[in-house]
Amino acid sequence: MNTRITELLGIKHPIIQGGMAWVAEHHLAAAVSEAGGLGLIGGANAPAEVVREEIRKAKALTKKPIGVNVMLLSPHADEIAKVVVEEGIGVVTTGAGNPEKYIEMWKAAGVKIIPVVASVALAKRMERYGADAVVAEGCESGGHIGEQTTMTLVPQVVDAVSIPVIAAGGIGDGRGIAAAFMLGAEAVQIGTRFVVSDESIVHENYKQRIIKAKDIDSAVTGRSHGHPVRCLRNQMTREYVKLEQEGKSFEELEYLTLGKLREAVQEGDITNGTVMAGQIAGMIYKKQTCKEMIDEMMEQAEKLLNR
Ligand SMILES: Cc1cc2nc3c(=O)[nH]c(=O)nc-3n(C[C@H](O)[C@H](O)[C@H](O)COP(=O)(O)O)c2cc1C
Repeated sequence: MNTRITELLGIKHPIIQGGMAWVAEHHLAAAVSEAGGLGLIGGANAPAEVVREEIRKAKALTKKPIGVNVMLLSPHADEIAKVVVEEGIGVVTTGAGNPEKYIEMWKAAGVKIIPVVASVALAKRMERYGADAVVAEGCESGGHIGEQTTMTLVPQVVDAVSIPVIAAGGIGDGRGIAAAFMLGAEAVQIGTRFVVSDESIVHENYKQRIIKAKDIDSAVTGRSHGHPVRCLRNQMTREYVKLEQEGKSFEELEYLTLGKLREAVQEGDITNGTVMAGQIAGMIYKKQTCKEMIDEMMEQAEKLLNR
């Protein structure tokens, strides 16, 4: 399945692994790239030198392209933007803001720029600023989300921009990939399914929580303050939503979740931790290697799309 995205990124399959905070480290990124997709190191709030180390470790595991997700709200975003160039990374995805101030530096270094967007307006703005493609991410996704669904957002973004569009949110098998292509996407970004891959360093409790999840098991916290986050229901989400309904301030609520994703990912606290995962968790039944996941999804998608 050759598309403008596989051409742009020099990858075999039109599958990108989401740049997930605490999850998207070098083992996962390298495994996805080795399997023919694009693996991403998630910059999140990590210091720049940690990101540099992760890039180097991933490169020691694969000669295939890998990318970096730069979270623009990070206090380290300026340094990470430079590390990306110094380490010869060919593609960045960006989240939580406008990457405008880095575009000149990245373009000069030949870095492909792919912002993650949750609206048509932002997609058009990113195209004007010189983005090479956009990830249109629907609210089915795990983690920080917008309000549009993947089904409605992707075709509207496809119609609004001429750069290629990558669909994200709620894609977990070949049917999802085929559907995204029918909506006009030229690749997909997948997060939740890769969390349970064999190469993912996420705690076993977290993986089992995703595997056991049903369709209705995710909840959205923070919507009342305009910072919605999708994760699997537990004591933490119940407490958060209760305090939200009581009208607590954003700062008080944020305090409740401080460090909670790390506790869930690394320590396996799936009761009080933040178990970020998307609605597609209900359809993820087993652990596999990234290669098995990608091969299975591509075979199914190609059959459905008759390629
Ligand atoms: C545990 C987790 C952490 C995430 N962290 C980030 C992040 O730091 N930056 C980002 O751009 N997206 C983040 N995302 C979103 C993913 O990159 C991806 O777009 C999303 O998971 C796709 O939807 P899906 O979960 O339905 O596959 C995260 C998702 C998950 C599940």
